[in-house]
Amino acid sequence: YRSLRVALLGAGTVGSQVARLLIDEADELANRVGARLELVGIAVRDPDAPRDTPLPQELFTTDAESLILGADIVIELMGGIEPARTFVLQALGSGADVVTGNKALLATHGPELAEAAEQVGAQLAYEAAVAGAIPIIRPLRESLAGDRVERILAIVNGTTNFILDRMDSTGTSLENALATATELGYAEADPTADIGGYDAAQKAAILASLAFHTTVPLASVHREGITEISAAEVAAAADAGYVVKLLAICGRMTDPDTGEDAVSVRVHPALIPRTHPLASVRGGNNAVFVEAEAAGPLMFYGAGAGGVQTASAVLGDLVAVARRHVVGGPGLGDSAHAGLPVLDIGKVTTRY
Ligand code: HSE
Repeated sequence: YRSLRVALLGAGTVGSQVARLLIDEADELANRVGARLELVGIAVRDPDAPRDTPLPQELFTTDAESLILGADIVIELMGGIEPARTFVLQALGSGADVVTGNKALLATHGPELAEAAEQVGAQLAYEAAVAGAIPIIRPLRESLAGDRVERILAIVNGTTNFILDRMDSTGTSLENALATATELGYAEADPTADIGGYDAAQKAAILASLAFHTTVPLASVHREGITEISAAEVAAAADAGYVVKLLAICGRMTDPDTGEDAVSVRVHPALIPRTHPLASVRGGNNAVFVEAEAAGPLMFYGAGAGGVQTASAVLGDLVAVARRHVVGGPGLGDSAHAGLPVLDIGKVTTRY
């Protein structure tokens, strides 16, 4: 196989897991892509900082710019706007493809990045930016592109879902539950982003932009967090048959002033009947409930946060992006040539 040079920016909760999987699964990934994904370096602020998983020290560098210039594909998992924005623009400008999980960057500079990618014919993939491991970006961008999405109801923040679930099931305080969520690697570096609803608002802006084929500026998303929710309130909701969830609600509406079609996006705590499918989303899980005109209701459910879980989405993007580098290589669904032997298991009886 030929090699594709992959540069990683950031080695936090998600980045360190991506690096580990790239190293451990190198042969398997090469078979799926038709090229080796060679991790050429990891740019970090402090090469000696402790990591969640042991990685070869020689991969670390503080010189992100040189790393980017020598790469075919750049994975950006630093978070925050700067210097991530500058690095992503440099990567795209040099013709490299970019895989990012940076929701803050996409929610504020998405159109700028998309245009920079388009100008040079580079790919920009960001499945990991919303709802951790759950495939939702590609379904909205591709699978549902021929349908008309009417509404999205989503739980897109694992930390707040974990906290509200803990408060509901054990009666504990918000502070106690947040400490556990942080230990589990769900919370942002600054958990105000989680409990204040900012993280969910960024994800809602990204989802709504894709679902409604428009640009939803972050500033137009109504946002309320869970900081005011008390254990007593959660208990009272439970007594009445409800559960409190932080919901992102993206819908179509008519602009009252102009009478034109418009989009409204909001994030706030909501009372959900315990019988609703979204009420069963427990712990750090997320769910995106999409109502589309032809498809009807669809629910995407799974781990919404966590290092290794979110790394799955990053690696999926990486494989998809890398496959397009391989002329004549395996296309979508065409990787069986290097796959496992198929056993003939004979007659199957399905009696339970
Ligand atoms: N802090 C985020 C969450 C991580 O709790 O959902 C995933 O984006």
